[in-house]
Amino acid sequence: MAKRVVLAYSGGLDTSVAVRWLMEHERAEVIALAVDVGQSADLEAEDWEVIRNRALAAGAVEAEVVDARREMAEDFCVPAIKANARYEGKYPLVSALSRPVIVRHLVAAARRHRADAVAHGCTGKGNDQVRFDVGTRSLAPDLEVLAPARVWGLSREQCVEYAAKWDIPIGQTKEKLYSIDENLWGKAIECGAIEDPWADAPNDVYTLTRVTATEPVEVVVGFESGVPVSLDGRALGPDELVTEIGRLAGSTGFGRLDMVENRRVGIKSREIYECPAALALLVAHADLEDLTLERDLHHEKARLEPRWAELVYEGMWFSPLKRALDAFVDESQRHVTGEVRLRLEPPGVCRVAGRRSPVALYDHGLATYDATDTFRHQDAEGFVRLWGLGVATWAARQNVGDQAIDARP
Ligand code: ARG
Repeated sequence: MAKRVVLAYSGGLDTSVAVRWLMEHERAEVIALAVDVGQSADLEAEDWEVIRNRALAAGAVEAEVVDARREMAEDFCVPAIKANARYEGKYPLVSALSRPVIVRHLVAAARRHRADAVAHGCTGKGNDQVRFDVGTRSLAPDLEVLAPARVWGLSREQCVEYAAKWDIPIGQTKEKLYSIDENLWGKAIECGAIEDPWADAPNDVYTLTRVTATEPVEVVVGFESGVPVSLDGRALGPDELVTEIGRLAGSTGFGRLDMVENRRVGIKSREIYECPAALALLVAHADLEDLTLERDLHHEKARLEPRWAELVYEGMWFSPLKRALDAFVDESQRHVTGEVRLRLEPPGVCRVAGRRSPVALYDHGLATYDATDTFRHQDAEGFVRLWGLGVATWAARQNVGDQAIDARP
């Protein structure tokens, strides 16, 4: 009996070739699954039909398209916001967040179709293979994971030839300038001219952050328990909200990242990201936490956040540690409710102009230096004396203070 394989299908050259390759080399019946995670805001239903037909033309026995945009926003972008997720302090995990969404659908489709394996089009050099493989194994350890592009050893030209030989329709055959991955959370750009980390990224890499606004814009982002729920007082579903703030922030040129990052497989790589929605929401959310989180909780959360981002980056979305951290993060968000006023100034500046919350821990009476001051000044002296008691005793007995003074340059 033929092996049944569900392939994560993008409609591009590699996954189209992968359909035929799996048929030839694995004697597989291929079910192509295209998952819409918001990769192109302007892909219409007809375009998805073109993608579906392309998979069938390449030889797939079945081809399905699922709309996972809301799921991507609700179940993946929202937890990333709550966790202030930025890998290596910068990258908001654009591609890393979409892979577990796709994995979830791959595994569900594999079960529905009684498949033996799932497959993806990733090469052996990147993080995405890690996310597909490990993600699948953490949901369905019994399923085989096939990665044709990791083993076929075909150059881009050879892929084009292979497609021609088998009459596989491909979108555009012209030289691709970059390797691009896109979803609701933003866009990742690799390869081509940007492989030289010293070279300025050419202007044509940017599509989501071209400056069209001429004036600064302000937008008020409303949060409830860490979840963004409104823009300028208008309630929006998470996918609409992400799309809308992305357009707005992008039009002011905000949301670009140019960085060299550490891939899981040991390669340093130069990456360009455009993620106006992600970065704007992360800026706003973190600021609201400054206002509403109790200090110890805030500090402890900040220690765990890099770990959360690493786990997600490294394909551990479904791991027990990531789930346990989610529970912590969720509990921390209980009172992260309020509004943040973002001011976007072209080209490319986003700053928090104001914040407020019905449960703010900012207490004007405690903070003010004017006559309405409610702080008990007399408490400070004893508190500060005890706070420094340990070091004062140490300095008196062990005379280290004198040594520090003598050590002056
Ligand atoms: N380096 C980024 C990451 O690992 C982006 C990967 C983009 N993927 C791609 N196939 N172009 O998350």
